[in-house]
Amino acid sequence: MTAKPVSHSRTTLTELMIPAYANFGGRVHGGILLSLMDKVAYACAAKHAGQYCVTVSVDGVNFRQPVEVGELVSLMASVNYVGRTSLVVGIKVVAENVKTGSVKHTNTSYFTMVAKDDHEKPTEVPPLLLETSDDIRRFLEAMKRKELRVLNAEYFHNAKTQMLIDESVDKLVNERCELADGLEL
Ligand SMILES: CC(C)(COP(=O)(O)OP(=O)(O)OC[C@H]1O[C@@H](n2cnc3c(N)ncnc32)[C@H](O)[C@@H]1OP(=O)(O)O)[C@@H](O)C(=O)NCCC(=O)NCCS
Repeated sequence: MTAKPVSHSRTTLTELMIPAYANFGGRVHGGILLSLMDKVAYACAAKHAGQYCVTVSVDGVNFRQPVEVGELVSLMASVNYVGRTSLVVGIKVVAENVKTGSVKHTNTSYFTMVAKDDHEKPTEVPPLLLETSDDIRRFLEAMKRKELRVLNAEYFHNAKTQMLIDESVDKLVNERCELADGLEL
């Protein structure tokens, strides 16, 4: 399969934050941003894969700053990493106040997508042609995140509930919780 450059599928989606997107506090609902991120991740992944893609997992959704109604939000997506059938799309989200021209970086998140064939089976995606040092750095960072995710999954798979309680229940005294009267551990 011929490698495709990162630039082939780089995608930007820009959307005006309209009042219908507001939460009860008058700012933009986090779910709206998640939905926009999913859209741009799909567009970018499908373009690289040349196939229909589905979202498998999402890493790094930390909203650092609120987004206001009236701001222009841009989501810049590029393929960071390619496995056999999966690919990771990195998305940088910025919000611009058009009156003042100020731009704030709200979050950078990573969507793992899997390409599917006409029978809904995972199907191979083209390798990624890395053209810049940023492309290399992002590929290596995605490999590291994948490695850490596997370790994390293994920990929770292997940690038996009772073992976790026995080892860690004492730590609850420092937390903001209380055990109900008569609760048996
Ligand atoms: C994603 C899915 C196809 C994986 O199916 P599967 O039978 O486990 O297939 P595989 O084990 O071959 O995994 C396929 C790829 O997904 C990756 N993958 C699977 N689970 C993953 C996870 N939780 N996080 C990251 N990658 C994952 C695998 O590493 C593999 O990547 P690779 O081919 O690049 O090595 C299947 O779980 C699925 O269809 N999920 C639903 C996705 C969906 O509908 N999303 C929209 C939600 S509304």
